[in-house]
Amino acid sequence: MTAQRIALITGANQGIGYALVEGLAARWSPQDLVLLTGRDPARVTDATARAAAAATTVARVEGAQLDVTDTGAIARMAAELGERYGGIDVVVSNAIARMTPDLPQEEQADEFIDVANGATHAMLRSFGPTVRPGGRLIVVASSLGTLGNLDERLHPLLENASLEAVESLVESWRTAVHAGTAQDLGWPKWINVPSKVAQVAAVRAVARERRGTDLPDGTLVAAVCPGLVDTATSRPWFADFSRARTPAQAAAPLLDFILAEPIDPATYGELVRDGKVLPWHSGSPADPNVTPANR
Ligand SMILES: NC(=O)c1ccc[n+]([C@@H]2O[C@H](COP(=O)([O-])OP(=O)(O)OC[C@H]3O[C@@H](n4cnc5c(N)ncnc54)[C@H](OP(=O)(O)O)[C@@H]3O)[C@@H](O)[C@H]2O)c1
Repeated sequence: MTAQRIALITGANQGIGYALVEGLAARWSPQDLVLLTGRDPARVTDATARAAAAATTVARVEGAQLDVTDTGAIARMAAELGERYGGIDVVVSNAIARMTPDLPQEEQADEFIDVANGATHAMLRSFGPTVRPGGRLIVVASSLGTLGNLDERLHPLLENASLEAVESLVESWRTAVHAGTAQDLGWPKWINVPSKVAQVAAVRAVARERRGTDLPDGTLVAAVCPGLVDTATSRPWFADFSRARTPAQAAAPLLDFILAEPIDPATYGELVRDGKVLPWHSGSPADPNVTPANR
């Protein structure tokens, strides 16, 4: 990593993204820059002021509006930052759209899939070439993101899939969600599960292509799982938060992993929780009709 390091985190005005900004700003040096991005300018301004004023903050923190459903804006920001700074050291694609158990999943699917999956594809594509040698390209996924969490009929579609194939599968799943046929095809009812598996599949696809140049450079592409964290996104879906982490508690092991030098090649392209790889084929499908809220 370079003397002046740059990090960009999406969906960072609250929750885990915000905690990553604060944590990184505490660990980095005064000449380094952490870019806090989010979709709403006022929330970005407020969160940036809070992070910049935090007692632990050492690095510079700046805010920038980035609605990740605007893939053109993602591409423009990647190009602009690449031009201005010559590259980026740490990129974390973290944003998620909140869903409520009170509305049918299909009514919430489009925004959810656009933010979680469309944006992941765009972030990987646009920021991939901008990450400096030795940098980090990270997607915040979940332990639900392993292939084993899906019905076996779906495995061949995601095993060794290219980024284009993952994108096209996400679109056919979206169509099936709207047509009411997704569960007949083996997709779980809770759309968070296929979405997370597809995020990890997208990371694996990009990592497969870059591995040969990234590993000698010490560049890391990976998906990470923060564990259960008490945030606005998780609150409506789980009854018991007694063992949940705070966003700051979740951010600490994520940053330990992201900033570790040298990178562990065994974690390259994988889904990692608390520094350990969650094997791609692990997990088992839940009852396809069950969501955590109706369990
Ligand atoms: N919480 C958990 O237990 C848990 C577990 C496993 C994985 N994760 C993952 O951790 C990540 C962060 O989740 P969280 O729990 O921290 O959620 P959160 O507290 O609800 O934060 C989500 C963030 O994403 C932003 N966002 C929503 N739509 C956006 C858009 N179109 N463009 C840009 N930003 C947008 C939100 O902005 P607004 O404030 O403007 O809405 C907010 O800043 C997600 O990928 C999630 O799947 C969380």
